[in-house]
Amino acid sequence: MRKKLIIGNWKMNKTKSEILSFVKDFQNEIKNLNLNCDYGIAPSSIYLDFTKEAFKDNNKIIISAQDAHFEEKGAFTGSNSWSQIKDIGIKYSIIGHSERREMFGDNNTVVNKKTSKLLEEKIVPILCVGESLEDRESGKANDFVTKQLEMALIGIKENEIKDLVIAYEPIWAIGTGKSATSQDAEDMCAEIRNKIKCLYGEEIANKIIILYGGSVNEKNGKEYLSQNNIDGALVGGASLDAKLFVRLLKVVA
Ligand code: 13P
Repeated sequence: MRKKLIIGNWKMNKTKSEILSFVKDFQNEIKNLNLNCDYGIAPSSIYLDFTKEAFKDNNKIIISAQDAHFEEKGAFTGSNSWSQIKDIGIKYSIIGHSERREMFGDNNTVVNKKTSKLLEEKIVPILCVGESLEDRESGKANDFVTKQLEMALIGIKENEIKDLVIAYEPIWAIGTGKSATSQDAEDMCAEIRNKIKCLYGEEIANKIIILYGGSVNEKNGKEYLSQNNIDGALVGGASLDAKLFVRLLKVVA
């Protein structure tokens, strides 16, 4: 049985005072709840440590990075390495988000290096894949996404992959309020699981956590998470408000 996982991706949002106010509201909202899911937040890298500290009374919450460079150190201005992330006790990182692929040159080769390095270093990669509207409308979505997945996993062995989390995020559904139908999301997540089965066998495929992301909120969350192959969500906008985020956790958990 795969445990549900909900991660809020804050992207480039929130200042220190906004983080503190989120944590206060969040802790207040979850106080008497017995949530039967794993959940977490991915703040900007500059506030990873600060957010971790702010949540020190919550030993359940996962604090995830939004990206991690595959090199240990060196001349990569503006980047944070996997070793720096590990150094501050962070155990998860989003990798290959479409915003990084589109705006920061994270192509399939880079995404493969990052995924592979993180798995090697026992940091859980939340590997994002997803097609553009053009690919969806021309019927190429499945091929595009399975190719992205295959390329991200080059060289990764069976004994290394078990901690991987995959997030299917169709680009056209991100931040647009336009969500995929639960059936379309389920079909793609099933396709992804099937690809994992072809590459690594059924046992691993049945264990891998696959998230859906793209305009998920407390109204549509339950519908997505009731699908067979959708094990959770990667949430942008609806994770910025503590009350809304907890409402989402409550409906899906
Ligand atoms: P929204 O939930 O705002 O559409 O963002 C999704 C996303 O990109 C999460 O990584």
